[in-house]
Amino acid sequence: MEFNVKISKVEKQRNTSAIVVAIFESQKLSSTAEELDKISHGYLTSLLSDGLIEGKIGQSLLLYHIPNIPSKRILLIGCGKKRETDIEKYRKIIHETIRKLNDIGSIEAVLFLLEPDMSEDKIYWSIRQAIEAIHEVLYDFDQFKIHKTKTTCALRKITFNISSEREQAIGTQAIQHGLAIAKGIKIAKDLGNMPPNICNASYLTSLTNHLAKTYKKYINTYTVDEQEMNVLGMNAYIAVGSGSKNQSIMSVIEYKGHPDTDTNPIVLIGKGVTFDSGGISLKPEKNMHHMKYDMCGAASVYAVMNILADLQIPLNVIGILASCENMPGSSAYRPGDILTTMSGQTVEVLNTDAEGRLILCEALTYVKRFNPEIVIDIATLTGACVIALGDHMSGLLSNDDLLANELLIASEQTNDHVWRLPITKEYQKQIDSNFADIANIGEGQAGAITAACFLARFTKKYHWAHLDVAGTAWDSKKNTGATGRPVSLLSQFLLNRSNLKE
Ligand code: BES
Ligand code: MN
Ligand code: ZN
Repeated sequence: MEFNVKISKVEKQRNTSAIVVAIFESQKLSSTAEELDKISHGYLTSLLSDGLIEGKIGQSLLLYHIPNIPSKRILLIGCGKKRETDIEKYRKIIHETIRKLNDIGSIEAVLFLLEPDMSEDKIYWSIRQAIEAIHEVLYDFDQFKIHKTKTTCALRKITFNISSEREQAIGTQAIQHGLAIAKGIKIAKDLGNMPPNICNASYLTSLTNHLAKTYKKYINTYTVDEQEMNVLGMNAYIAVGSGSKNQSIMSVIEYKGHPDTDTNPIVLIGKGVTFDSGGISLKPEKNMHHMKYDMCGAASVYAVMNILADLQIPLNVIGILASCENMPGSSAYRPGDILTTMSGQTVEVLNTDAEGRLILCEALTYVKRFNPEIVIDIATLTGACVIALGDHMSGLLSNDDLLANELLIASEQTNDHVWRLPITKEYQKQIDSNFADIANIGEGQAGAITAACFLARFTKKYHWAHLDVAGTAWDSKKNTGATGRPVSLLSQFLLNRSNLKE
């Protein structure tokens, strides 16, 4: 799909393109609708007073051959109450627009949804959100189907109207960012949706190698395999993967975009358990197939690395895909095992299904060698987080208020919401062990917090945040698959950091 911005007039559009015009509730016309109304001698107001469209979100009315307008088709789209559209409503409007344009087989469309009195910031976000929303509605994962169910989309080109030269630069940047982020979200969704017999740790490594080839100038990758983990003393990581015949691999992606390549990097660590059966503490059968998504944290990190390179963001970022498979078997680790981690702290395994923290704690120790500016881990870590926050918000836990606030701001900007949970010391007691330094599960309630408390014992040396995306990384209700969250949030956080935008 091609996107562009243009200073356009409704009456000057080519007759081949469909025009999309906003109508607000209580019969309010957008500025373009008003123009249209004037040119057509009150055609629109007559439709409105006949009650043919009220302007409610989701409503639309397709018009053909409006008097004095060269374009054959005009799609009126309900946008709700003027000045009350939030990101969610706006995305709905865009989804409806695309569905309708698709229904009529339109190849080219000009969207007159931006008002001349909008701030530059509003223009940027409207265009960027539109691009992300368009990709979302057109997404399908059908590579394993012989008969593709979704009809192909005829739409090839979308133009956003703007009203001044100054908006041209903002619009172009919004398109560039929107496209890169939308592509990244698709990458994360595709990876998450991949079946676990194909998407294992070696598969993820082959992707990172490919990424390094594509962006030779900025990206360097390498892996830490089981042998090297052994040398480094990452015994908890090795233990988790020991029941699987698939190798455990930690893939490291180094992106250097900062003018000073020695600047301390931001480190992103993604949980990449390509299938989590629970191990010896086997999970119940219901929805066990959802545990192919237990690598969505790693998928989001991989996606963000793509976006950084695509946009050449001036930051140094290291992405780590901490991958392995948690399986039962004669070589699997057991409840009762005591593991010595790379940090020297010992962990008593009380449940082999609390495996995410065991691989993450090793990755969190490993990354100290980079002298990170900050470290963020992204993990489908606990069912308890799903109980606490449902599928609306990811859990945010951090040892640094400034970092937590930056993430909260980026989450507000992108509608990729997070909610901060505490990690105060009273919770720490819940993971004390009788036989080792730490137990891998907490006694009592607050499982999302005790899991983060576990990680916090390995992150004392740097600013750190943990995103528990167990409830948000995939959609189990409608069964539509991976959501691509929190790619939007993370890339915005990085864009903000790079000062490219705000
Ligand atoms: N990958 C799961 C977390 C999960 C469960 C995400 C359900 C989404 C839906 C994680 O490895 C896990 O199994 N966690 C256990 C921890 C428990 C044993 C302390 C959980 O949440 O049940
Ligand atoms: Mn588990
Ligand atoms: Zn897991």
